[in-house]
Amino acid sequence: MCGIVGYIGDEEATPVLINALKKLEYRGYDSAGIAVLGDEGLVVRKAKGALKFLEQKIAAEIIRGTMGIGHTRWATHGEPSDQNSHPHTNVSGQIAVVHNGIIENHAKLKAWLTERGVAFRSETDTEVIAHLIDFYYSGNLLDAVREALTRLEGSYALGVICQTNTDEIIAVRKDSPLVIGAGEGENIIASDVPALLEYTRNVYYLDDREIAVLKRGSVEFYDEEGRPVQKELCRVEWDVAAAEKGGYEHFMLKEIHEQPTALTDTLRARIKTYATKSINLEEIGFNESWAKADRVIITACGTAWHAGIVGKYAFEHFARIPVDVDIASEFRYRDPIFNPGDIFIIISQSGETADTLAAMRMAKKSGARIIAITNVVGSTLAREADLVMYTWAGPEIAVASTKAFTTQLMCVYLIALKFGALRGCISETELAYYIDALEELPAQAERILSHKEDIQRFAAGNFNKTKAFFMGRLFDYAISLESALKLKEISYTHSEAFAAGELKHGPIALVDESTLVVAICTQRALFEKMESNIKEVKARGASIIVITYDDEHFFDAVADEVFRIPCTPDPLTPILSVIPCQLYAYYCAVQRGNDPDKPRNLAKSVTVE
Ligand code: M6R
Repeated sequence: MCGIVGYIGDEEATPVLINALKKLEYRGYDSAGIAVLGDEGLVVRKAKGALKFLEQKIAAEIIRGTMGIGHTRWATHGEPSDQNSHPHTNVSGQIAVVHNGIIENHAKLKAWLTERGVAFRSETDTEVIAHLIDFYYSGNLLDAVREALTRLEGSYALGVICQTNTDEIIAVRKDSPLVIGAGEGENIIASDVPALLEYTRNVYYLDDREIAVLKRGSVEFYDEEGRPVQKELCRVEWDVAAAEKGGYEHFMLKEIHEQPTALTDTLRARIKTYATKSINLEEIGFNESWAKADRVIITACGTAWHAGIVGKYAFEHFARIPVDVDIASEFRYRDPIFNPGDIFIIISQSGETADTLAAMRMAKKSGARIIAITNVVGSTLAREADLVMYTWAGPEIAVASTKAFTTQLMCVYLIALKFGALRGCISETELAYYIDALEELPAQAERILSHKEDIQRFAAGNFNKTKAFFMGRLFDYAISLESALKLKEISYTHSEAFAAGELKHGPIALVDESTLVVAICTQRALFEKMESNIKEVKARGASIIVITYDDEHFFDAVADEVFRIPCTPDPLTPILSVIPCQLYAYYCAVQRGNDPDKPRNLAKSVTVE
């Protein structure tokens, strides 16, 4: 996720900006840049890669000035490069902007600005902001920023400076974090508290659509209409290590909590809401010919493979198209049959998993067309695929994948529904119904997270169980697989997943009093079947947790504990039902004294076989 900093005071700005950017490195980034305003005007330096490359550029040509803005970029629009790094400037180079978030209507704004003679220099969504502010600027930077904001759709935290406003940084946020540090004769902005702590512990937390005007000796706040707002000054008591994790004990817990935002970011730009709601994948190059495929093959590893299994059920349900799902390491070594008209969906958080890339290259060689779902712009997978759909989850630092998974599911649903609509398998009304339901998921995820203490309490009583089995049917089976993987990789508990109907074909022999069974029960047509399966394992002494809907009491009599999730159409429940399981795995790992962020024997990205 991008990191923003800004400084205005009496010190040289460059070292402060670089130092503050270093404190945001934990967020992940692929390039960095600063803009400093001094006697030589507004000077910008940017460099792809680690901050040290930016430092080398600055060391070669020192920039002086006591105010400036800086940025570490996690690419979303346009691959990592010097050109795409922030800050971005207007044509004359007098206004500089750093941005965290996604401008959803950037293509439309770019076309509008291009018609007015603006020549763009980057592929980013951010550059439109600099040109828009320029368009509205006539001496008052605050007013120009306010005007520009009325044109922006999406999420943003912004830092803006202008060569002719030598005592002013404008900062604003909507759906992206931004904090203002209030110092003595100096003020500073940052995406996150760790960047401020060396300078001040007195902070203002900006709320959505609030604008801050930082001068050397003051900070003032305004609403979007330009009316003054009074803000409370808060004192930060965290240490730096805790601050990096946003106050959470581990990155994994932070990332679990980032899911509502990540889901919103991944969904919002892809929904068109003109007369009726529809899914917009045209911007990634999708056209009707893709939906005419005879077969879809989904290939991935680990958690991403589980997203693929949900994808199979979703494609078959919404688009009536046959789907094969393959583990990439198996696919690449067997003798798969390719048919003309096959399309491949390759899913990978990192976009660098060796087996997944090998499977993708085999498919490509066969002449198949490839859609990549990945979280990393400019990754090998993104570069080599025909179409790329990004999960806008931001960098995932914990080894156990959480927000990448749920955003992969969001992408899979969008593509499956789009196929379904184009193939005439779902009507406009049904499509609008499912889009509404997808739009509710982020808030529903938030509601689950607000009850995390229930799961923490349950984990405290069960973390030392030696066996945990997850079972479900259809979409719930896919989430059972993902939940079992999560629990085993960070808590080291022996956990397995079963399609509930398979129990009697063997696995039930393992069940005894020491077994915890998590039954995921969200497929309404199969409740009776699940009830029978639960009774079978209960009769053998297992403890039972049921995950089901808020308003559902079908399983109350057979479960020892029920975790409830908000109601959504059955095919969409995986995005919600996995969250209690992620939390359960996390709390079990912590109870066992494990570091959930760095589980033993595992690497975040498996770039070798
Ligand atoms: O980067 P990828 O999505 O291709 O990674 C695939 C798997 O290695 C990954 O999902 C792994 O299973 C995670 N540790 C699961 O939490």
